Amino acid sequence: MTCGLPGAVIRHVAESAHFTLHTIRPSAIIIQVGINNLFVPLDDPQWLTLDEDLGRLFDAAMAHAGIVIVTTPFPIEKGFDEPDSSVLLRAQWLAEEVVPAIFRQAATRSLPIIDLFREFSTDDGTAKPGTTVDGIHFSAEATVGVRALYEARLLNLSRSSTGDLGAAIDLACAQLDAARNDFDCLRAILPQSRKATYESSDGFTVWERATDPFLEDPKFKRAYAKGNATGHRFGDPKNLHIEWRVLVGCWAAYHCRLIEGDFVECGVNTGILANAIEEYIDFNNISKDFFLFDTFNGIPVEQAAPGEIEHAQSMNDAFYWDCFDIAQKNFSHMPRARLVRGVVPESLSTVQIDKVAFLSLDMNIAAPELAALEYFWDRLTPSAIVLFDDYAYGAVQREEMNRFAISKNTSILPLPTGQGLLIKPFI
Ligand SMILES: C[S@@+](CC[C@H](N)C(=O)[O-])C[C@H]1O[C@@H](n2cnc3c(N)ncnc32)[C@H](O)[C@@H]1O
Repeated sequence: MTCGLPGAVIRHVAESAHFTLHTIRPSAIIIQVGINNLFVPLDDPQWLTLDEDLGRLFDAAMAHAGIVIVTTPFPIEKGFDEPDSSVLLRAQWLAEEVVPAIFRQAATRSLPIIDLFREFSTDDGTAKPGTTVDGIHFSAEATVGVRALYEARLLNLSRSSTGDLGAAIDLACAQLDAARNDFDCLRAILPQSRKATYESSDGFTVWERATDPFLEDPKFKRAYAKGNATGHRFGDPKNLHIEWRVLVGCWAAYHCRLIEGDFVECGVNTGILANAIEEYIDFNNISKDFFLFDTFNGIPVEQAAPGEIEHAQSMNDAFYWDCFDIAQKNFSHMPRARLVRGVVPESLSTVQIDKVAFLSLDMNIAAPELAALEYFWDRLTPSAIVLFDDYAYGAVQREEMNRFAISKNTSILPLPTGQGLLIKPFI
């Protein structure tokens, strides 16, 4: 397949001739022309002769390629105001020999090629702001953006990774869409860029779905911010980006506020979820206790199954410390918050709880969670919700919880957040 994008649009190119080849995803090769005057094919740096070794380089990558994108790793500004410099000579050599050779190699293999080099005017030595390829204008930023886009995909980065990267990706998406729409031969190859409406650090991205109803909801934003500000030591203290996870908890609590029984959380730490819930459903104005069970000092590793010990230990080392004072402070505005310090399940029977409307299990290991589930099952009011924070993480937890659910003739809904949701059946 050939695209007919003209190699001639590249008149003057990079300041030197360092080639790096990226096989980015099954349908693309990106060739960068960068800063050193070497060809570096794959992992095997060596001098190359143009057709022979470029051919080898192409062949090595061809197995996966459907399109060649020639780009630069960054805007090329330096060197071109020195007309006699070796930089300029190398640039001319690139423009006149190397890039045409790339096009030849691509054509030999019937590969479409899209050229995102910046175009330079040698008349006054100044760089033009971008490149026009058959009527499509690729700005310099877009050139960088395309690379960012592909690298982001390669590395599985999200748009929230950095502001600059995010902006570059947005731009690249727009440019790719333009190219895709204007060239038939690219339509089948280039993916239509899609807009991620939710990108979190919580393991998943949502494309083209309405997330504004909660991400922009002032009530939810207040609740989320309150939970996030509890002084936890997980990840980024400014924002953990667990919005959807917190939303699930808030939604469940909102449902459960109308059900007979108290709220219970086993595994509280500084109280991210419980604080968000309090704010979201105005907990202080409903007539319930919120029982909050925790050692407030980490996971008792002796409770961990063999397959959980290492993880439990690393969680203790990384995230948990004696946070009881902080937790007490965080719940001091909730007259009916009942902090119970101690090891679950032994601590459960130290307080009287007759009926439960909402049960959150978040202790990172299976044994105390299963024990708590067994302890509270008969106390759960029909249609009460059990929220498993770690359901889709450790296999031990998941299998134990599944076994329990099956024994009760019900099942747990896995969520993309990693949580699990169970509704106490009416039986
Ligand atoms: C992931 S944190 C809970 C986070 C909390 N749900 C939030 O929203 O901030 C897990 C907590 O479980 C507690 N924990 C683990 N095993 C426990 C057990 N057997 N008894 C009591 N607390 C336990 C740890 O001390 C830790 O604070």
